[in-house]
Amino acid sequence: MNTYILGIESSCDETSMSIVKNGREEIATIVLTQMDVHAHYGGVVPEIASRMHIENITLVLESLLQKANMKVEEIDAIAVTYGPGLVGSLLVGVEAAKTLSYIYNKPLVPVHHIAGHIYANALEEEMKFPLIALVVSGGHTELIYMKEDYSFQKIGGTVDDAVGEAYDKVARVLSLSYPGGPKIDALALQGKDSYPLPLPMNDSTYDFSFSGLKSAVININHNEKQRGNSIIKEDLACSFQNRVTKILSKKTKHALESYHVKNLIVAGGVAASRGLRESLSKMTSEIGVSIHFPSMKYCTDNAAMIAAAGYFAYKLGHRADLTLNASANASLNGGK
Ligand code: KG4
Ligand code: ZN
Repeated sequence: MNTYILGIESSCDETSMSIVKNGREEIATIVLTQMDVHAHYGGVVPEIASRMHIENITLVLESLLQKANMKVEEIDAIAVTYGPGLVGSLLVGVEAAKTLSYIYNKPLVPVHHIAGHIYANALEEEMKFPLIALVVSGGHTELIYMKEDYSFQKIGGTVDDAVGEAYDKVARVLSLSYPGGPKIDALALQGKDSYPLPLPMNDSTYDFSFSGLKSAVININHNEKQRGNSIIKEDLACSFQNRVTKILSKKTKHALESYHVKNLIVAGGVAASRGLRESLSKMTSEIGVSIHFPSMKYCTDNAAMIAAAGYFAYKLGHRADLTLNASANASLNGGK
């Protein structure tokens, strides 16, 4: 029998809903991004984000049902991102999910946003375990060991800025508009690695730190301007991206080898980076590991990944009741 999951995602600046069949087959997805609005401010403004989610959420549901040509009655369960993220934004999705669950008497499945990013892969191919997931987004930089379906063991993470956050801040210094990640990535491909930047947190742990690297970029930019020199943006972007990809590849390699894992999944918005894809692909081919990236549309926030993760959580019996609340700092360890 087929299982249809309605996924809801509103943790940051995308209002999204999706219907996914059996955790693998996307029936329809709507993603309404607020990016253009937040771009005026150089980053996501939480109050504006939650207000726009409220304005958009019923519209997104209506468009989704129309696109899928389905009714809520035909859905088996409702999966929603309950955290982590911006609490005011999360709440809109959580309340919508609870309302639908109550009115239509459908099970409510809580999904951790990072589980969603990882399960974006299930939409394109079957996930093979054990695996290591490298989650790189605007809010996260995490190495996660998965022994089997829906079992998450966090083995490392950032001690300060997330990698996407560092990309966005560096982009701002280079006067590039938000979100800066794709712009830095594009510039880096045209530049040379000519600026002396540090390799951050170059130790034997699985943790990361990007705030020192970000500050080093800011200092170089400032000092060169003081001297009346102009910055070669392409070269600074390339030097920054090379440090980021080098340290991510090095620590991911260490994790794959120590945990004897032959499958790597790369997830989250920064997984769209061509520089990172190249560097990780080179590393995994050298050590005989197979590497999997979701396609670009599943890398950034979307509800198809939440519905996909929601299917596996649903099958394992994960349920929430109407007391479900948004959790800005929800942790993934353990799987719930
Ligand atoms: O996963 P996501 O859409 O939202 C969060 O959960 O944070 O990730 C957004 C982040 C932003 O920081 C954006 O600059 C970055 O992903 N990003 C990229 C690229 N595309 C998006 N970073 C580097 N290269 C890209 N091509
Ligand atoms: Zn995300």
